[in-house]
Formats: sequence, C-alpha cells, structure tokens
Amino acid sequence: MDYSSLNRFFFLAVGAFLLLLFTHFSLHLPSSPPFSRSSPFPFHGPSITAPKHATRNHESDIATHPFDPLTIQEINLARSILLSYSPFSSSPSSLAIHSLSLDEPDKSAVRSWKPGNTLPTRKAVAVTRYKNKVSYVLSMDLSTKEVVELAVPDSGYPTLTIEEMMSAPWAPMSDKAFNETITARGVRMSDLACLPLSLGWFGQREEGRRLIKIQCYSAEGTANFYMRPIEGLTVLLDMDTKEVVEITDKGSGIPIPSSTNTDYRYAVTKNNQPAWLKPPNPISIEQPAGPSFTVSEDHQVKWVGWDFHIKADARAGIIISGVGIIDPETGKRREVMYKGLVSELFVPYMDPSDAWYFKTYLDAGEYGFGLQAMPLVPLNDCPRNAHYMDGVFVTADGKPYVRENMICLFEKYSGDISWRHSESPITSMEIKEARPKVTLVARMSASVANYDYIVDWEFQTDGLIRIKVALSGILMVKGTGYTHTKDIPSDENTYGTLLSENVIGVTHDHFITFKLDMDVDGPANSFARVKLTRQATASGESPRTSYLKATRHVAATEKEAQVQLALYKPEEYHVFSTEKTTRVGNPTGYKVVSAGTAASMLDPNDPPQLRGAFTNNQIWVTPYNKSEEWAGGLFAYQSKGEDTLAAWADRNRPIENRDIVLWYTLGFHHVPCQEDFPIMPTVYSSFDLKPVNFFEKNPVLWLPPHQDKDLPVCSATMATT
Ligand SMILES: *[C@@H]1O[C@H](CO)[C@@H](O)[C@H](O)[C@H]1NC(C)=O
Ligand SMILES: *[C@@H]1O[C@H](CO)[C@@H](O)[C@H](O)[C@H]1NC(C)=O
Repeated sequence: MDYSSLNRFFFLAVGAFLLLLFTHFSLHLPSSPPFSRSSPFPFHGPSITAPKHATRNHESDIATHPFDPLTIQEINLARSILLSYSPFSSSPSSLAIHSLSLDEPDKSAVRSWKPGNTLPTRKAVAVTRYKNKVSYVLSMDLSTKEVVELAVPDSGYPTLTIEEMMSAPWAPMSDKAFNETITARGVRMSDLACLPLSLGWFGQREEGRRLIKIQCYSAEGTANFYMRPIEGLTVLLDMDTKEVVEITDKGSGIPIPSSTNTDYRYAVTKNNQPAWLKPPNPISIEQPAGPSFTVSEDHQVKWVGWDFHIKADARAGIIISGVGIIDPETGKRREVMYKGLVSELFVPYMDPSDAWYFKTYLDAGEYGFGLQAMPLVPLNDCPRNAHYMDGVFVTADGKPYVRENMICLFEKYSGDISWRHSESPITSMEIKEARPKVTLVARMSASVANYDYIVDWEFQTDGLIRIKVALSGILMVKGTGYTHTKDIPSDENTYGTLLSENVIGVTHDHFITFKLDMDVDGPANSFARVKLTRQATASGESPRTSYLKATRHVAATEKEAQVQLALYKPEEYHVFSTEKTTRVGNPTGYKVVSAGTAASMLDPNDPPQLRGAFTNNQIWVTPYNKSEEWAGGLFAYQSKGEDTLAAWADRNRPIENRDIVLWYTLGFHHVPCQEDFPIMPTVYSSFDLKPVNFFEKNPVLWLPPHQDKDLPVCSATMATT
C-alpha cells in the first residue's frame, strides 16, 4: 500500500486527472492511429485482440461535419483571436477561458447541408472572465475572425475552470487559522484532502462575489478519503481573490471516522477475498464476423439503419445529433432527433445544517459534466468489442488537451429477446420464432468528485432509443459521534442512515435533465398527451361497469405540455409529425416513456429549488430556440434561477405544429443503506424514446434468427476448477 506517499491535496477527480491533463500538454504522443481517418470502418482485422485503441493524435483533425467539435487547430485559432481582442489584448494573462466550444450553425444551415458540401461557417463560442472581475460570452467567426459579444446573464457565473477546481482546495492553507484548525482536529497537513464545493445561492450573502466552499477529509490509511470527513469545518473562499472569507468550525467534537474497510481498490481488496465465494467465470461477447457499426470521420456512426453524430462536450458530456433511421419499408432515411444531451443535473442533499445546507449541486453548469468524464476502463467499463472516442477540451489559458477514451461505442447482446412467438400444442402448429435483441450503446462516465454517473444512449433495431443513467461511486458522508443506531435518540434527526461507525450517509436526490430536440419526420411537430381515463358504462350497456379509454389532447402552449407524472393519472406523451401520417392515417410519432423516476419534493420557493426549477416537471416542451440549451441557465454557478427552463417555459409560448424541444428529467431519491459503503453498487434507471405509429408495422420483422453455425463455440482448452 503506497497511499501514504500520495499527494494529499486532492481535488475532484484527483491524481489520475492531473496526470492526464499534464501528460497531454507536454507530450506529443505517438501518432500511429489504429485505423485511417478516411476509412468508414473503424476496425481493421480482428479488433477483439485489441483491448483498447491506441492513443490518437488529434493535431491534424479537421472538421468534416457541421456538428464536429472544435478541432485542436480551431481551438488554437480561437485562442489567438481572443488574446488579440480588445480589452483582453492589453493583459492576456488576465484572461480566463471558462469554456470554448463550437458555436453550432443555425439549424436550417445544418439540415440543408449534405456530405460533400462546404461546411457552414465555423464559429466558436467562448465564456471568459477578465481580470477576475467581468464575465464575457463571445462568438467568434473562425474565417473572418470577427468577434461578437453576446448577452451575459443577469446573475450567476461561468462553469469553474479545471485550474480553479485544482487551486481552490489549496487556498485555505495560506491562512494560519485554517492550519491550526486542521492540526487541532488531529489531522496531519500531509494527510489532508480537500474538495471545492459550489455553494449555490441563498440570498444577499452569496451576491456580488464569486465564492466557493472548501471542506476537507483525512486521507490517512485509505484512498477513500471521502469516508473520513473532518465534519463541520467549512472554509468560505473568494474564487477571484483566493481570499479566505470565513472559516466555520462547528464539528470539533465529532470524531473522524476510521479508515477500516474503506478502501475499494482491487490492490487492497484482493488481500481480503472471502474464501467461501468464487467470482463468476470470465465472460465476453464474440462477434465472429466483426462489429456491424461504422464510425467515419471520428464522429459519424452508422448501425443497422441508424445514423447519428456523436461528440464529447465539456459541459454536456456526450452530444448526439442528427439522428435518423432507415425505414425498412421504403429504404428512405427518416429524421428522429436533431440533438440530444444532458442539459443539467440537480443534486440536493437533505440536511439543512450549517455544513450541509448548501450542497445542492448543478453538476453540468458548475463543474462541467464532460470535464469530469474520465477515461473509460477497457474490459470493465466497456466490453472488449468497444470502440473508444476521445474528447478535446480547453484549459483556462485556452490550450487544447485530449481526454482519451471518454466515450465508448459497442454492440451489446445481453441475452434479451427482440420479439418472439411459439404456438402452443392447442393449435398443433409447429411454430417457434424468436429473434435476439442486439443493441448499440454509446457510453460515458463522469466522476463528479465522489459520485460517478454513467450515461448510456442505447439504440435498438426496432427504432427505440433507451437513455439510461446509472449511479455509482462514493457517497458524500457526514461524520457523527454515533457508532450504533441504539444510541441515536428517537427525536434526533440525523438526515440520513448510519452506514458504519461514525459515518452517516445523508439522504439526497439526483436529477438528470435531458434536452431532446425531436424532429420526427422533420421539424414540424406537435406534442400530444394521450390520457387514459376510467369510463363508466351506461346502465345495462355491459356486464362491465368500467373500462379504460385513451383520449388524445394536443398541447397548444408550453404550460399544457408540463407534466408531473402520476401512476393514477396515466398518460402517453407523443411528439408527432404534423406533416406525415401512416398508410392508415395515424400521425407518425415518438413517445417518451418513463421507467422508475423521482420528482423533487422540495418547496418550490426553497432557493435550491428555484435554481433547480427545471425539475419542477418531469416533462416540458418548448419551442425551438438555439439559445435555450442549458436547463439551469448558461451561468449556473451561484445562479438565482432567473434563466432556467422553468423561466423560459413560463412565457407559455405556442408549441403546436412547429419545431419543438422535449425535456425529460430522470430522478432518483437516494436514502443511503449499508451496501453503499464504502462504494456504491450501481443503481440504474432509464427512459425510452419509442416509435409510436412511426413505422407501418413491426420494423424488425425482417431480422433473421441466430443459427448455430453463425456462432462458433469457444471452449476452454483446460477445465479450470
Ligand atoms: C499551512 O500548512 C501548509 C502545509 O504544511 C503550509 O505549506 C503552509 O505554509 C501553512 N500555512 C501557514 C500560513 O502557515
Ligand atoms: C430565445 O431564448 C432566449 C432565452 O430564453 C430569449 O431571450 C429570446 O427572446 C428567445 N428568442 C425567441 C425568438 O423567442
């Protein structure tokens, strides 16, 4: 165990991240890509022998599609434009670039673009702060170098830069009182691990200056410092001046939980394997004929009728664009979705006490969901047949860096059935028809400090898209004097569950809000609520007294499309084309189908809920507006909730027969339990975008079944016991 020699000053995703970041600044990695850029097939030869694709050199990448992210060359160009832009040119070192990404061309220009055409004008959009004082939003034309200053939101600040997240936890150490507090708690400075925590907005106190809270842990004896909080100690820091505004220590009587059983790394757990259990045998997917998806020009994916563009994004994680599917009846490509992404997250903790009340994170807008996405672990995060993609992001001084293996794409066969039917002996017909379900998954995982989110976009051959979110990682826990539940007075609220001696897992929620710009058979769409209501039969009409009736109501305005899900008020939610119908006259559509989910139960006027007001409904529909991208507002940091999806939709604009955007929030209530200690087994939920009268009939009738000869059997050469 070598953790005692580790640098103790962790920030969010700590050591691995630092290493990666700086490796990529300083090294030109070997440029032998495993496949050529022009090849439509990402895999040459038996890809199954390569567990991980070799490092790609992105220096010479060029944009070939309007959705392509900024290339390294474009980032360098945008940076030079910014540095020579007045006022920044007078003190370029005082410029902090909080984000720099593609300013997407207008939707009409993208929709009319065809491969081979010249690209619509490439533009970049930057969010910057200058001299630690003023925020700017700038759009730059990369050909003419023209800069346009865009409106800056009335409240809030830009996403933290990685450099800020790295430096903020160190700042309190310039304050003697801080060091003394740590030492008084019995923690050696060399064992200290601190986190930069966004502090939300609660009124006056948070106004007029950019602040952050720092809380610390002891990493003595474990890599899992999260389980060893120095409870009740909070440092309020000015982000711009790095000045310690206040140190609050209300936990001096609370012991720091022990490091026993907290480490989760295999290097540690393998020394303590239960002798009475054997792990499952190794398992892997085989594709004797190779994968059936292609990735061309790095971003354009094709798979069994589907095609879409995929890219890494510093704020959203993954952006899926231009999704279309070939109709098996006609061979024609049909549009489904223009763009889909994680727009914002909201993670409120349910402890109103001093050291906890402010923990109400907007992870995408405050920390960057993509910035926190770490390289995926081959064979474990993604199966052997996965293809990996990198992200190209930007440091605070505007230099590009590569986040390797941030996205993986793979075909999944989990043993599920696509469709089936067997005839029973009653009919004496010998029919046994079944088709295996194979899907295509695009995956990323963000480690936002302690928590890990896994986001999957899963495409099915039958036209369904399943969007899945999984939670794993490590709980944010609270130190306590209690070591047994019997000692906790019945009238004392611990705001969570005692998970281990001196450790409370605090109850909290996770909300992940997706922006889904549906274009079902083109942009002219409407949104219908198909209500299922109980109908009473007329007296004497039937032996039955009731039945269920589906009634379709087309939402005319935004407010009519705001949905709070309720089991006893069942509805279907359809986005449908106002121009296209099926042979028999149904409008072609896609419906959003929720699985397990949760709604925010906070007071709508609670400051965190005002900022997280985009979770007030599970479904919203808005008219398309390019600038309405981030459900918690462009400047989510210390925002007051003036620029949320809720505020936009409050205008109650018409949404009928036009280009509309669907928003869906997937929620989780999390009452921690002991199994979540010291690291959480993954919890999943999902929702579906499912064709509804989109196809003329079952679109996978044509799928052939698997035959024995298609699937060579691999047997172990030697029995293992
Ligand atoms: C606090 O401790 C750190 C780590 O030992 C040290 O670098 C720093 O100088 C100390 N700060 C003060 C004000 O003494
Ligand atoms: C687009 O959205 C922004 C932000 O909500 C708003 O200020 C602007 O007026 C909208 N534009 C149109 C045409 O509705």
